[in-house]
Amino acid sequence: MFDRIAPTYDLLNHLLSFGRDFSWRRQAARCIGAGGPLRVVDLATGTADLLIALLREHPHIVDAVGLDCSEEMLAVGRDKLRRHGLAARGRLVAGDATRTSFADESFDAVTMAFGIRNTPDPRATLDEIHRLLAPGGAAVILEFSLPANAVLRWGYLVHLRLVVPLIGALVSGDRQAYRYLNQSIESFHGPAAFCAMMEQAGFCDVSAQPLTAGVASIYRGSKAAGNG
Ligand SMILES: C[S@@+](CC[C@H](N)C(=O)[O-])C[C@H]1O[C@@H](n2cnc3c(N)ncnc32)[C@H](O)[C@@H]1O
Repeated sequence: MFDRIAPTYDLLNHLLSFGRDFSWRRQAARCIGAGGPLRVVDLATGTADLLIALLREHPHIVDAVGLDCSEEMLAVGRDKLRRHGLAARGRLVAGDATRTSFADESFDAVTMAFGIRNTPDPRATLDEIHRLLAPGGAAVILEFSLPANAVLRWGYLVHLRLVVPLIGALVSGDRQAYRYLNQSIESFHGPAAFCAMMEQAGFCDVSAQPLTAGVASIYRGSKAAGNG
């Protein structure tokens, strides 16, 4: 599905979020540790927008990898890294975020934006993120959520169920992909349940930060220093 919508993915992201997605990714990028040198992997990196935000925010990143299972999304991402002059600092690789080939404890930060909802088993993905982190490292996950306020939630559901599939189908030509988007957002875990899942996967200091009235959330958790 992501191979099919790759050419129009970025445009639709910006249109359907009213441009808020730039600031969401920037805020997520700021949640990783500020000290260097940092090794970072962005799972389900897609067209690499979060990887680009990370590289811009953190000049002391020494290894930056974006991983995704869609070659077409990665091709758009590689082109963008080149255009932004960041190709020498970030590399994009094909792979499955739930079973990567990276060694245990290879990264100081693992990020994932709007990806964990799409993996078949989010808990298994959290286990993989935990495995990849060095002790003391941080997981930063950006994902859609629903506003807690009933009125805002109602308005947002109208946007999700009517506007998103319509504009998505018109621009991408793929009605099914943008139907899937609203269904997957509505059925994904809310912030409290997702934080509990992160704790079950072994993360400590877990927090959820609502963005734009709660239509997205940044989840952060650490891998305990010392005993993992
Ligand atoms: C909604 S896009 C998010 C892309 C990007 N992170 C962003 O912020 O725009 C979801 C991405 O997850 C990728 N994806 C879904 N399941 C995956 C998996 N098991 N392993 C790796 N990538 C996956 C898709 O190919 C797609 O690029």
